[in-house]
Amino acid sequence: MKPIVYITRKLPEEAVAPLRDQFEVRMWESESEAVPRSVLLEEVADADALWTVVTDAVDRDLLTAAPKLKIVANMAVGYNNIDTVAAKERDIVVTNTPGVLTETTADLTFALLLATARRLGEAEQDLREGKWTSWTPMGYTGMDVGGATLGIIGMGRIGEAVARRARGFDMRVLYHNRSRKKEAEVQFGFEYAELDKLLQEADFVITLAPFTPETAGLIGARELALMKKTAVFINSSRGGIVDETALYEALKNGTIWAAGLDVFETEPVPVDHPLLSLPNVTALPHIGSASVKTRLAMMNLNVQAILDVFEGREPQNRVV
Ligand code: DGY
Repeated sequence: MKPIVYITRKLPEEAVAPLRDQFEVRMWESESEAVPRSVLLEEVADADALWTVVTDAVDRDLLTAAPKLKIVANMAVGYNNIDTVAAKERDIVVTNTPGVLTETTADLTFALLLATARRLGEAEQDLREGKWTSWTPMGYTGMDVGGATLGIIGMGRIGEAVARRARGFDMRVLYHNRSRKKEAEVQFGFEYAELDKLLQEADFVITLAPFTPETAGLIGARELALMKKTAVFINSSRGGIVDETALYEALKNGTIWAAGLDVFETEPVPVDHPLLSLPNVTALPHIGSASVKTRLAMMNLNVQAILDVFEGREPQNRVV
């Protein structure tokens, strides 16, 4: 009998084909809906390998329901959806997909920054709804990106890739990170700043830090109050890094000017979420890494990780 791989989303055949010789591949077949928790709990009972995406909660209960499991291959760079402590206790390997999504996620982050600064979402929606009745001198006026100051919180690979893009817009780049990036400071002129200074001086604040107990709620009412009234806040890392209630209040009361959000605390975000009622919020459905090439590369890394574990090799992107 072949070992069983359970995949929590429908994937293109070309992506899973390399697994078929050695594994029985079982897959959730709906494109539009996530696998229900009850189904997942049943499926993992027989699974030797589990392929997950960013919204699948791989908690202790799920791991307990999966007695044969050898690997959880998470198709994302972030792995905050996985209880890594519980996985480690059981010697279950956990892998992620870093590197291949850096440039694509940086593109999206910068696109979201531009779209929010220049109110593209609002403007397009009005046009489509027949509300473009005349050219107005102050209509849809936004914030200039060129020459502005960008503050990046979390200067990992994606942060650096965003910062490099900002150079093309003649932006001053401040960053805040656990460790200094001395080489990038010298090579590109990026400036390290303490968090409060970054918040006070940046015209655009982007969070790109991983979601951990230390970064949960990192941006709250105090931090939003430190930002400029004209500031644009961008989040393309994880929703939980921001206190969404505080963000809603700050956007509604004019504490900051606008926000671009690719991520939310609960995903998919409910359509009646207060943040979605605000015109100064540009919202996207967590599409940072969504280019054809990148998603296929992420799938390829997951396939490789599963093959590595079952063929006795150390997987390249092991996090546990
Ligand atoms: C990641 O890789 O962590 C993204 O958020 C999912 O595309």
